[in-house]
Amino acid sequence: MKAVILVGGLGTRLRPLTCNTPKPMIPIANRPFIEHVILRLQRQGVTDVILAVQYLAEQFEALLGDGSRFGLHVHVMREAEPLGTAGAVKNIEHMLDSTTFVLNGDALTDLDLQAMLAFHRERGSKTTIALTPVDDPTQFGLVEMDRDQRVQRFLEKPRLEDVTTNMINAGTYIVEPEVFRYVPPGQHFMFERGLFPVLLQTGDPVFGYPSRAYWTDIGRPQNYLEVNQDVLIGKVQYPIAGDVTSNRIWMQGQVDMHASVQLVGPIVFGPDVVIGRGASIIGPTVIGAGCHIGDNTAIESSVLWENNQIAEEVTLRNCVLGNQNTIAAHTVISGGAIISDQCQIGEHNRLDCGIRFWPGTRLGDKAISF
Ligand code: GDD
Ligand code: MG
Repeated sequence: MKAVILVGGLGTRLRPLTCNTPKPMIPIANRPFIEHVILRLQRQGVTDVILAVQYLAEQFEALLGDGSRFGLHVHVMREAEPLGTAGAVKNIEHMLDSTTFVLNGDALTDLDLQAMLAFHRERGSKTTIALTPVDDPTQFGLVEMDRDQRVQRFLEKPRLEDVTTNMINAGTYIVEPEVFRYVPPGQHFMFERGLFPVLLQTGDPVFGYPSRAYWTDIGRPQNYLEVNQDVLIGKVQYPIAGDVTSNRIWMQGQVDMHASVQLVGPIVFGPDVVIGRGASIIGPTVIGAGCHIGDNTAIESSVLWENNQIAEEVTLRNCVLGNQNTIAAHTVISGGAIISDQCQIGEHNRLDCGIRFWPGTRLGDKAISF
């Protein structure tokens, strides 16, 4: 069984976290997201994964290699120009020979693909769309079905007044390759605004597969912190790398900490972390490789990527730090703040209310406080 993962998007909504890191490679619980997607596919019986990329092909190749590390084959296929979601699959149509999974590269879910495949076969479907309920369908593709779960209408990013259901396209499809005969080669063409409406017109059977499995689109900043926390508290099946202790502390290597440090799981530590005297780390929290945490610093419900230098008496609560930031003493960062990469934050600042710092921002002492 083959799976195509669509990873051509720019990840603009997730900036500044995606300024230096492509969206599918941003870490969740200290592991690049795409690795989790591939491991999940391997566990669900997929033997070949085709990554439809548009840029940064080398980064995907360097990270994933030929896939043998994951027990399957990975093929990185680059589009010369953005072909849209269905155009990207058309572009690699020659590699498909039978029923295929197609996945948006930013959906975190533990949907049972084999059960969905059984449904697809039982119904004689040509295209099956996984559906999930959401509070606000205007951000997604709305899918209306009849009683037999046959799709009647597809409406991408509907206006509020056009919302008739809260079931949306969850970005996982099972397709029969023959449907790509409707997709023009070498042209920008979307599943959502192109192929699905065409299939409904031609009468090819398109079914919806509703599920209450965990689902989130990681491409939205307000979700990023929550997704990490959901993984750590076990709300979604998502194996975390490292050795775990009975109080849900995962260690992926050496953590050098003073005996007075207070830890309350769930916490994931990358390798080579150093934690000073009197510091406390309260989960759900992720501390990336090479982070140094100063004396009496308190970190709670936050995600830190790699090589952050945090001074003493700092408070980090409900915030995200990217790579290689330096945070000086007595600063408080909270309220969903996102500090991306290589920022230098001076002493006695208070950063709150979803503030976002682009890479390389420098902030003096006492520059922001309220
Ligand atoms: N190869 C390739 N080429 N991939 C692409 C292209 C392209 O031209 N355009 C988008 N993608 C990839 C993105 O990288 C992402 O993984 C996926 O296709 C979906 O694109 P998004 O930009 O994240 O779309 P969205 O989140 O606004 O909406 C889509 O996902 C929703 C669920 O999260 C739609 O499929 C909605 O209908 C759906 O509800
Ligand atoms: Mg998306």
